[in-house]
Amino acid sequence: MKDVEDGRALEALLEHLRGSRGFDFTGYKRSSLARRVSKRLQMLNLQGYGDYLEYLETRPGEFTNLFNTILINVSSFFRDSAAWEYLRAEILPELLAAKAEAEPIRVWSAGCAGGQEAYSLAMTLAEVLGADAFCQRVKIYATDIDEDAVTQARQGSYSAQDLEPVPPDLRDRYFERAAARHVFRKELRQAIIFGNLNLVQDAPISRLDLLVCRNTLMYFNLETQRQVLARFHFALNDAGFLFLGRAEMLLMHTSVFTPVNLKHRVFVKTAKIDLRDRLMILAQTGDHEAGNRVSREVRLRELAVDGIPVAQVVVDTSDAIVLANEQARVRFGLSAADVGRPFREVELCYRPVELRPLIEQAVAERRPVGMANVERPGPNAQARYYDVQVAPLLDDGGPALGVAITFTDVSRYAQLHEELERSNAELETAYEELQSTNEELQTTNEELQSTVEELETTNEELQSSNEEMETMNEELQSTNQELQTTNDQLHGRTDELNRANVFLESIVASMQSGVVVLDANLAVQIWNRKAEDLWGLRADEVRGQNFLNLDIGLPVEQLRTPLRECVAGNSGPHELRLEARNRRGKAFRCPVVCFPLAAPDNQPHGVILLMEEGG
Ligand SMILES: C[S@@+](CC[C@H](N)C(=O)[O-])C[C@H]1O[C@@H](n2cnc3c(N)ncnc32)[C@H](O)[C@@H]1O
Repeated sequence: MKDVEDGRALEALLEHLRGSRGFDFTGYKRSSLARRVSKRLQMLNLQGYGDYLEYLETRPGEFTNLFNTILINVSSFFRDSAAWEYLRAEILPELLAAKAEAEPIRVWSAGCAGGQEAYSLAMTLAEVLGADAFCQRVKIYATDIDEDAVTQARQGSYSAQDLEPVPPDLRDRYFERAAARHVFRKELRQAIIFGNLNLVQDAPISRLDLLVCRNTLMYFNLETQRQVLARFHFALNDAGFLFLGRAEMLLMHTSVFTPVNLKHRVFVKTAKIDLRDRLMILAQTGDHEAGNRVSREVRLRELAVDGIPVAQVVVDTSDAIVLANEQARVRFGLSAADVGRPFREVELCYRPVELRPLIEQAVAERRPVGMANVERPGPNAQARYYDVQVAPLLDDGGPALGVAITFTDVSRYAQLHEELERSNAELETAYEELQSTNEELQTTNEELQSTVEELETTNEELQSSNEEMETMNEELQSTNQELQTTNDQLHGRTDELNRANVFLESIVASMQSGVVVLDANLAVQIWNRKAEDLWGLRADEVRGQNFLNLDIGLPVEQLRTPLRECVAGNSGPHELRLEARNRRGKAFRCPVVCFPLAAPDNQPHGVILLMEEGG
């Protein structure tokens, strides 16, 4: 129940972000979003998404914090180095081989974070092409939804630690030192264009040869992944390549891309018939002058009728032959000269079947009539069989203008029919045997089917846990970086504290008077060197003990009242002279001053005692 409510509250939060800020996170995976938003809740000590929504509404600045928490900018140079090596050694040579010598090369790093991926692409392409050709031919578009990340990427400036994954020779060739930083070389940097682009909402960069979108799709849910992939399909040239991140396998659910190498997540567009393009080409041909078009149309009709694979003769209502197609001419000895002759004068009118009654019936009943399997002796005394059909040609529902007589050669089917009957008997027996084999197969098949389904489910689960783990890994990395910073700050503070302590101790130790500091319970906190010298007890023997219980040469009992007053804070310094005996047993009058130990809030937190040997 709590989960359902949380789910609803999270959706309400996402709707608010979309409505008020125009940022649509509804296409992101809920598991990851829930973790990231909860991180903000923890930091702000809020109880639920509802509280957080109210917080957001009253503090517009919080939106930036949430945005930065949701968008994980973790990246590194040559991330998954084996895949980059495959790109360099196998894909880029193939890509370049398909291009003319000076032809431009267009690349897109989509979801570029701090720019490491775009600069890795630049180094790889410059290595393959040479620096000059790289500058002349290559354009790398690098985009991200996160403006801060894009601003950082534009600077191309990285720490030595950031550059660790870059091989030293590449680092020396492509980066210049600037104080403690390394900056990407200016001439090559000009080939990279950084920009702010939302993959879910904005139009993609187009005419691409290589599209690199790594570890970004995995934050989206399936539906959004599918939409983004459709855009990528449009964006890529037909021979272009798509390079995804290690955990991104969900292409299985779409048919628009085909793997080139599944292990390294490189894909190409699936070839498909582009009907629209074909129609456009058709629309651009012909249509130069009307006459040409009409005569071409007539010729086309003739060719179309001639191309019909059955014999056809058209006879008008005055019994004149209007048309005899090629099959009719070849099979029934008609010629072009027969067109216009009365149909009753040609043999076909009577053989293989008397057609005049059929023609009269079709015209009278205004529907096709026919006869099946009409036999006609062929050239080698081999009989041929025809299905004859006589169809009235009705002009828009008006009177019949004539009839179309078609002769469909069914000899092959008749022959087949005979053979079929023979085979049928044999089949009958075989069928029964098959039947039982089939049943066995069916059972095996069903078992296989369920095994395959189980495997598919396991695979999907593995896939999504893999993505989940990858996401959590990135989150951990970012938390780790934050912890590192906190740790560094703590170290600094500890150093400062140590220095202050040493300083304080040296002041107390250097005092020529015995200095004793007590807490509010009169337990000894500080016992300096002079006090040790006076009373013969070491600091570690008295620390934490009640001062009034100490067995020293000073009559401490006489100090009870002044000490209590100091602790109560209603008394200023008390000066006393007490009969004392030092550690060597020598009696002397000991001047003692005690006054309250005041904290910054001016409240007494203890007592300071000063004791002299002289006097
Ligand atoms: C984990 S980083 C990946 C960086 C780099 N591609 C890599 O593999 O090292 C994911 C990036 O995707 C960006 N991103 C998230 N949603 C996006 C969207 N809708 N459009 C564009 N970029 C997005 C984030 O800002 C983040 O910089």
